[in-house]
Amino acid sequence: MNRKPIFAANWKMNKGPSETEDFIKSFLSKVQGQTFNSEIVVAPPFVSLAKLADLLHTATAVQNAHAIQTAAQNCSQFDSGAYTGEISVLMLREFFVHYVILGHSERRSIYGETDAIINAKLKKAREANIRPIFCIGETLAEREAGKLESVLRTQVTEGLRDLSEKDLSETVLAYEPVWAIGTGVTATSEQAQDAHQFVRSLIAELYGQDTAAKIRIQYGGSVKPNNAAELMACPDIDGALIGGAALEPQSFLDIIRNGTQEA
Ligand code: PGA
Repeated sequence: MNRKPIFAANWKMNKGPSETEDFIKSFLSKVQGQTFNSEIVVAPPFVSLAKLADLLHTATAVQNAHAIQTAAQNCSQFDSGAYTGEISVLMLREFFVHYVILGHSERRSIYGETDAIINAKLKKAREANIRPIFCIGETLAEREAGKLESVLRTQVTEGLRDLSEKDLSETVLAYEPVWAIGTGVTATSEQAQDAHQFVRSLIAELYGQDTAAKIRIQYGGSVKPNNAAELMACPDIDGALIGGAALEPQSFLDIIRNGTQEA
């Protein structure tokens, strides 16, 4: 099964519009003339989406900037109305957002997002034809208590509840062990591969083998230029969701290069 790897920069609460401009200009100058056998996605904070859309539009016009796709880091589960501080999927559409990161462990643990809320957001994203990057992953305590598989099973089953096969086919999964996020501790390639294989088997249970073979599952958690190649060589790992190491254009590019081949 040929699945195109997808490398997504999750900037979290970093880079307003001017830093976004610096990053994108530098990144585009480094990749000029090259194409990769992978998809490249950048998820800036909401307030930088307009700048990003603008820069990519201009760059595409003048130098055929190979497609960087835009992602949001969150969306509301509601359409509009009295939800102070929230951003709807239709608003995101206006900024040409292709993807939205949902279910990130920081949203789960700091903002109390439950599987049911994440499920509602996934559906809302699909209604607007935005592709979810749906994050799942266990804490260290859960792993040590032998609960890895039951945690992943609940997150996957509840998060994807009533999502059609068509909508799932437009979704990317991201396995991110919570203990590896921002800690510098990466899962070994065996640990990551085992978890990815298990997640793919869950998708097969829910949606059948064909769909499971096609869905892309990113790994996330302290991915760096020096561990990308080994992780990406695992058969069930289809790209990476990258936080800290995607804040510098060169380091993000090195991860993409080391984890994929030039076209
Ligand atoms: P990290 O973050 O690469 O800094 O560990 C990954 C993520 O939170 O998506």
